Amino acid sequence: MKRNLIIAQIFIILSSIIQVLNHLFVQPMDNFLPFILLFTIGFLPAYLLDKLLPSLTKYIFVFNSLYMVCLAFYFVKLPIVESAFFFLPVTALLMNDKRVYLASGISGLAAYLILSDTSVEDRIMFVSIYIIFIMLLTLVQYRVEKNIAEKEAIQQGIKAISIAVEAKDVYTQGHARRVAQYSLILAKHMKKHRVDFAELELTGVLHDIGKISMPDSVLLKDGKLTQDEYEIMKKHPVEGMHLAKSLGFSHKVLSGILHHHERYDGKGYPHGLAGESIPLYSRILAVADSFDAMTSSRSYRSAMTPWDAKVEIERNNGLMYDPEIVDVFKQAYEELLLVHETNQQQKPEPQETIIS
Ligand SMILES: [Fe+2]
Repeated sequence: MKRNLIIAQIFIILSSIIQVLNHLFVQPMDNFLPFILLFTIGFLPAYLLDKLLPSLTKYIFVFNSLYMVCLAFYFVKLPIVESAFFFLPVTALLMNDKRVYLASGISGLAAYLILSDTSVEDRIMFVSIYIIFIMLLTLVQYRVEKNIAEKEAIQQGIKAISIAVEAKDVYTQGHARRVAQYSLILAKHMKKHRVDFAELELTGVLHDIGKISMPDSVLLKDGKLTQDEYEIMKKHPVEGMHLAKSLGFSHKVLSGILHHHERYDGKGYPHGLAGESIPLYSRILAVADSFDAMTSSRSYRSAMTPWDAKVEIERNNGLMYDPEIVDVFKQAYEELLLVHETNQQQKPEPQETIIS
């Protein structure tokens, strides 16, 4: 808000300079001196009132804008200045306060009606357009607010799903969040591809949601899985994709989840895709997922050091992982290490068991 006031002051000073130049060299104006004087000191009421009544900053800013518009409308007898009234509700909308918005809309309209000396027809026309404009603006604001509320609800839903998955599986607590973090770091270091960070983060957070449909006897088994149990666990990417589909996530998120256990050499699952036919998000996730799984402890093994995990990822370059992503992983290693260490400090001690 303080920054808005400073920007408004700079704007007013620049406008004053332009008007002085216009008056001197282009078009001399009647009543120039009182106008420029009132215009130039126009920010002072806002500045002083803001010092006295800091809790009313939003109203002060909006009414100061009204003062400036009214001044220009009164002194500069040009039809174009009329349109400045339409900027008032737009500015007020940015304050994100319904009362300020309402006050600005009503006072703008009232000020126009008081100051205008045009014909009744012109005034009716202005009032009609102004009201339609305010209604459209309100509709846009309503849609934006609804959109934000829906996005927040989805974020809460995702959080709830991740918590539900990890509540079953103590060993993977925080795994989804960490995989999302590592994936984002890898994506930021990628030069060749443009990645939608929000979408990739979602894919990382959701990649293992299919585990929620895995039987506890398999998911929570103490120790390594038998071949049959492993076959059941291999269904979690497909289950996860179906679950994410029912929640309305995008195609890229769904394919990222479905293929996060594919291998670059084509020996992964569920479809045995190879090379670049594996979706980019899945190829990024494969490295991020392995790095977190290897550096986290399990009931049947302790955690590897990040350096050993790096050596292991490099050893599987071109086999499990896309060489391009492995290169990015090497470049981003220091940053990944930093996030790993931060996560280690926050991680609770696991009490139960599971496979990654
Ligand atoms: Fe998985």
